[in-house]
Amino acid sequence: MAVQESFIPPPMPVLSRIGELRERAASLPGGAVDLSVGNPIDPVPEIIIQSLKDHDLARPYPDFGGRQVIMGEVISEWSEKQLNTTIDPSDYGICIGTKEFIAGTPKILSLRDPLRDTVLYPEIAYPSYAMGADLAGCRAVPVSMGDDWKIDVSSIDPEDAKRALMLWINTPGNPAGGLDDLETVVNWGRKHGVPIFSDECYVEFTWDGPAQSVLQYGNEGVVAVHSLSKRSNLAGLRFGFYAGDPEIVSYCREIRRHQGLMVSGHAQVAGIAALRDQKHVEIQRERYKKRLERLIGILDHMGIEASMPGGSFYLWVPSAERNSSELAFLLADKLGVISVPGETYGPRGVGYVRLAAIVSEENLSLLEKRVEGL
Ligand SMILES: Cc1ncc(COP(=O)(O)O)c(C=O)c1O
Repeated sequence: MAVQESFIPPPMPVLSRIGELRERAASLPGGAVDLSVGNPIDPVPEIIIQSLKDHDLARPYPDFGGRQVIMGEVISEWSEKQLNTTIDPSDYGICIGTKEFIAGTPKILSLRDPLRDTVLYPEIAYPSYAMGADLAGCRAVPVSMGDDWKIDVSSIDPEDAKRALMLWINTPGNPAGGLDDLETVVNWGRKHGVPIFSDECYVEFTWDGPAQSVLQYGNEGVVAVHSLSKRSNLAGLRFGFYAGDPEIVSYCREIRRHQGLMVSGHAQVAGIAALRDQKHVEIQRERYKKRLERLIGILDHMGIEASMPGGSFYLWVPSAERNSSELAFLLADKLGVISVPGETYGPRGVGYVRLAAIVSEENLSLLEKRVEGL
């Protein structure tokens, strides 16, 4: 009998790499400015706070499929207005934030298609795509990206395609901010019979052109995944949804129902309020755009070149010497900034650091003062 090794949970990818940076940055007068994680700092919109006040929602088990008819209609309306797509109000499911969906879906898809065992994902990416494969006992196979950080589906080995349960894409992408060519990806998925799962949690922070979604190319074989964490400053509430191919969506929904993955009643009501309101998203877009521009200006003062991403609220900053640690230490020692070394997101990230434009007005001014004093 083959001896199976037990799975040892690895340390969390970002936290495990920034200990020394934190110490060095904190030694500056005024302390460290932590730009390492994408954790919202802006207020929860008032319209959402109001929706959380119904205490009766805490008593019964929440409605599994979303607050019946209304959730589907709200999702369908939002995606039509914001993404120019058509989602049938029944072809969706909700999740407790999207990270659990990302980490859990490979297992579900391997139950759906036990003959396949591979999860494809972008070579520079949010670490949970590969973790979902590991947790399902599947192969995690990175897919090359072009110089513009778009996924290159033509590089996928046909043998990997045959074994693939899914291809994850993330557009706009974390950490590099690239915008994929979605039509090419969707066509590749259909040609090879590989479901495309498109993580679109930064879609409303698209800077280069209009927001794009895989669902703009029809829903056959595709599932779009959306989160309220960033657009509505609701990372603590835990609400996301997935929508698209009716068969895949309903399979995921039914397995998740057996797993008890229920979104709380409060999160559902707040989610509906958040998706019905676009004003707060416009305000948040402006905040991130200004912060990104100011951070680019600060780096420019130091002779470090950074450019506006195609989307997202991250700067993906190349180091002139292709040495991420050196650049991360420089930013910590001179500016007191905590960044994330690029290799956290895959081996090709060596030579880059990621900065999140999650920074208060006070800290931005502190950074501007520090850089002027250099
Ligand atoms: C690309 C990407 N996908 C998904 C998530 C998870 O978001 P949440 O679980 O809050 O919906 C994040 C969080 O940073 C992310 O960057």
